[in-house]
Amino acid sequence: MADDNAVVLRLEAVHKQYQSSDRDPVPVLKGISLTVNRGDSIAIVGPSGSGKSTLLNILGSLDSPTSGSIQLDGQELANLSEQELAAVRNKKIGFIFQSHHLLPQCSVLENVLVPTLAENGKAPVDAVERAQQLLERVGLGHRLTHRPAHLSGGECQRVAVVRALINQPSLILADEPTGALDRSTAESLAELLVELNRDDQATLIVVTHSAELAAKMGATHHLQDGTFADNTNRSD
Ligand SMILES: Nc1ncnc2c1ncn2[C@@H]1O[C@H](COP(=O)(O)OP(=O)(O)OP(=O)(O)O)[C@@H](O)[C@H]1O
Ligand SMILES: [Mg+2]
Repeated sequence: MADDNAVVLRLEAVHKQYQSSDRDPVPVLKGISLTVNRGDSIAIVGPSGSGKSTLLNILGSLDSPTSGSIQLDGQELANLSEQELAAVRNKKIGFIFQSHHLLPQCSVLENVLVPTLAENGKAPVDAVERAQQLLERVGLGHRLTHRPAHLSGGECQRVAVVRALINQPSLILADEPTGALDRSTAESLAELLVELNRDDQATLIVVTHSAELAAKMGATHHLQDGTFADNTNRSD
């Protein structure tokens, strides 16, 4: 059993329902509890609409639960101001979204460097080097000055992955990171995530429909009807 210092994320009885004035509330998460230790790699799987993206957004403090507790590195997220949450996200979390959200007016390299921009709007030199290395690694070294409109969907997704990794986050949250990719690109991207998890001890939580990607993670949680139905823990 890992000691408490190793706990990165702790969720207790997390519920989420979407409210709107003209419709009944939509309950999506109905009591999710989960403990994630440093260096864990976890797949979250489940049918479309089961709440995987909702859960990931909540884990990444982009959305808040209707009730329940979420602690990141021992801090209760509900107690943090918007500004504090933004700082936590920028420093600790690398988010790979289901749709890539690249800035259309910026080049590949500029998109990747956005999270590193200091107040003077300039990226540190080592960040530029890291960006170039990572872009090489995902096969985009020859696309540094291209704009997203001139890239394929899979290439945009790879840029978004590199952007999420640029600040060396301790927690990587990835929503279908390989969904838009062909088999071999998907495989090399999965390898990159696994390596970061293994070598840098980055904690990795991946939402995926890919059984192959899920099999590379240490544990799999099945989301169904708003709760975790059954868990596959490969380290047991
Ligand atoms: N802003 C919102 N307002 C109301 N309902 C929402 C909102 N966002 C998501 N939902 C609903 O919540 C449920 C879960 O959505 P979510 O995007 O988390 O599913 P998912 O498991 O990620 O699905 P997929 O595999 O298709 O990406 C869906 O039924 C969706 O319609
Ligand atoms: Mg989703």
